[in-house]
Amino acid sequence: MNRHRIHLIAAARPNFMKVAPLYHALKEAPWAETVLVHTGQHYDPNMSDAFFRDLGLPDPDIHLGVGSGTHAEQTAGVMVAYEKVCLERRPDWIVVVGDVNSTIACALVGAKLCIPVAHLEAGLRSRDRTMPEEINRILTDAIADLLWTPSPDGDENLRAEGVPAERIERVGNIMIDSYEMMRSRIEAAGTREAFGLSPRGYGVVTLHRPANVDTPEALAPLVEQLVASAARLPLVFPVHPRTRGRLEDFGLMSRLKDAEGLRLVEPMGYVEFMNLVQEARLVITDSGGVQEETTYLGIPCLTLRDSTERPVTVTEGTNRLVPPPELLDHVEQVMRGDWPEGRVPELWDGRTAQRVVASLARRLGVHADRT
Ligand code: UD1
Ligand code: UDP
Repeated sequence: MNRHRIHLIAAARPNFMKVAPLYHALKEAPWAETVLVHTGQHYDPNMSDAFFRDLGLPDPDIHLGVGSGTHAEQTAGVMVAYEKVCLERRPDWIVVVGDVNSTIACALVGAKLCIPVAHLEAGLRSRDRTMPEEINRILTDAIADLLWTPSPDGDENLRAEGVPAERIERVGNIMIDSYEMMRSRIEAAGTREAFGLSPRGYGVVTLHRPANVDTPEALAPLVEQLVASAARLPLVFPVHPRTRGRLEDFGLMSRLKDAEGLRLVEPMGYVEFMNLVQEARLVITDSGGVQEETTYLGIPCLTLRDSTERPVTVTEGTNRLVPPPELLDHVEQVMRGDWPEGRVPELWDGRTAQRVVASLARRLGVHADRT
């Protein structure tokens, strides 16, 4: 059988949870030759390899080894390396996920070579163009041929930008597929016990948005709010490498290390991290993916941002946007039980990868019984 060569692009931590369920589902499709491409945007073992292991992904078929740099260096580095790959052995489709620099870089390479590009997690908009991810989302959606959205706001945003309806397909939230795929291992991981914490007796913190961590003016007051919050509720804080660097540069690390109730740890693997999240009283974050995971699990999520590209986590879920100076007040609010319970948005059901594979099969004209 003549198989269709599909490139799956993975680059940074949040991509791996989006690519893994799709990789496993495509492997079952006899018409697909799945090629896993890692751009190397994230490269520390605990930002990359750990996720491949946890999520049952094989070593990438192609590794571009691009690494860190300025936005232009990183985006251009991925483009130069990925174009060579496509020219050498042309894929039939390119699937990009999320909103990182590698997402737009690979989409642009595909579009210029007239290779069809599909974007998984399309249509999300924060309307804040100071976020590098917002630029990546707008540009990727403008040039991709097929836009797989997680929620109705995604469809609406794309239609408002003039995208024809036939390019948009709502497939649901692929992050939930990863959670469901790993659920039994997550439940058995025992991370909370290993930290000696009681169920619902602690909070989890993640921070890495440039707007929060890249200047001392933003980061120093945030550190004070975290110190005050940890005195109220023990907090576990796996520190992203960007944030670690900034805390050290600004001389703020010791303030956090010495704080009562606050535990700083290395970035965690997906299974151990999700075990900690699902038993937490609350989560404090500026992550995109963590806003969704907490909504799915019904855990109060305090998002330290003034906008979100994932509005259903607020309108339907347990997420609230929290101005950093009000963090402690919001922690108190959760502790009083004054927080919405939320519900799980439609199509966040663990079957998004199947819908994506079916969509691709339709686009390729592959007969349904061969999917
Ligand atoms: C990137 C994405 C962001 C995403 C985040 C997920 C862009 C513009 N940003 O941000 O959308 O939310 O990943 O975590 O694509 N570093 C390491 N080891 C690594 C990776 C990074 O030490 O494995 C350090 C380097 O100093 C690097 C810095 O972290 O310069 C930032 O990495 P980068 O990939 O540029 O951006 P992130 O902040 O990770
Ligand atoms: N995550 C993890 N270990 C950590 C912190 C986060 O496994 O120490 C997972 C989290 O569960 C989610 C993803 O990483 O699935 C989110 O990635 P990140 O916050 O880096 O990026 P964003 O979603 O903001 O783009």
